[in-house]
Amino acid sequence: MVEITLENLRKTFGEVLATDEVNMVLREGELSTLLGPSGCGKTTLLRLIAGFYAPDHGRIYFDDKDVTGVPPHKRNTGMCFQNYALWPHMSVSDNVAYGLKLKRVNGMKYTKAAIDRRVQAALDLVHMGELGQRHIHQLSGGQQQRVALARALVIEPDVLLLDEPLSNLDAKLRIDMREEIIRIQKELSITTVYVTHDQHEALSISDMVAVMDKGYVQQFDTPKEIYANPQTVFVADFIGQCTFIDGLVESVGDIIQVRIPNGQIVSGRTTIFNYPFMADESVKAAIRPEDLHLSKTSSSDNEIDGTVSRTIYIGSAIEVYFKVGEISAQALLDPSSRIKEGDEIRLYAGTKEVMVLPVGGIEALRKVPGHPMATSQASDSVNA
Ligand SMILES: Nc1ncnc2c1ncn2[C@@H]1O[C@H](COP(=O)(O)OP(=O)(O)O)[C@@H](O)[C@H]1O
Ligand SMILES: [Mg+2]
Repeated sequence: MVEITLENLRKTFGEVLATDEVNMVLREGELSTLLGPSGCGKTTLLRLIAGFYAPDHGRIYFDDKDVTGVPPHKRNTGMCFQNYALWPHMSVSDNVAYGLKLKRVNGMKYTKAAIDRRVQAALDLVHMGELGQRHIHQLSGGQQQRVALARALVIEPDVLLLDEPLSNLDAKLRIDMREEIIRIQKELSITTVYVTHDQHEALSISDMVAVMDKGYVQQFDTPKEIYANPQTVFVADFIGQCTFIDGLVESVGDIIQVRIPNGQIVSGRTTIFNYPFMADESVKAAIRPEDLHLSKTSSSDNEIDGTVSRTIYIGSAIEVYFKVGEISAQALLDPSSRIKEGDEIRLYAGTKEVMVLPVGGIEALRKVPGHPMATSQASDSVNA
């Protein structure tokens, strides 16, 4: 088991910046997810960790060992590719055995008996123990995924790297396989990096989540922290639902007051420790649907007035879409409330439930004293 340290990594392909300023410590035995939209640099970062790409600059450590220049087969990582990359004409066992046949331990090859034993153990682990003699083309998508996982695990890697392992499976199977991956990951307590673009998947399986956009890691935190304290507008928007109201900072203190376009004042909290808000700074007040209520719980609650445009009954609640001036807003309300399209409504949100976010994304984070984004650019010039 190893801890992975990524230090100021950058990777470009010609003019394309695939990823930059990546600084993270992936703790040993944990499952960390790289989450973000297509093209944000997830696969590139995973391949940097595997050693298939060399970074333009920056360093990668497995524990104290600098592996930046170490070729992939000497990093002892097991990787599952997005398309599985299995050999269709070979048997399940031969696919799984392939990497073991190449592997040397202290310069020695494994014996046939040792290979057979390990292949069987890996197939048992993914509940494919009976199907070793089948050919790949005789397997379902879910079974192929299990074989790919067994092949990654059979070499007893220090690090498991999974690139969108469930994206080719249907919804039901995806949840089953997700639980399988968690089971195996915890059973072996293997340091795992998991790539996905699906926020539900990321939140449900991860110890830590790195939310990426346009090559940059915007936030690296526990799922709970990412949801409760998003550090950028992108993160707040990508994880869960949010209504955003543009405004200007009116006053700064424990509570931040924001003047919104209709002249009203909205009070909220910061989610960014030590962010230096300035008077008149452009910000967004962000509110989660479940944080809007039909009745007041405190005299300091914000009042939000709007016109209902649509309601959707979802059993445990009703989703209410409404307009606050030009802004489309969303609330999750008690299913017994008789709200209907066209109604004028007044909703309440506590000052702790309104998140005030700077608009500059990661550029804003550079203003936070001691923040990794405040220091990585400075060290870039030294390193480049
Ligand atoms: N081998 C490559 N050659 C050129 N551009 C690449 C290559 N691999 C990735 N890119 C570009 O780098 C960016 C990040 O890609 P990628 O890491 O595959 O994103 P993701 O896995 O998040 O979808 C994209 O703009 C992509 O087009
Ligand atoms: Mg990818």
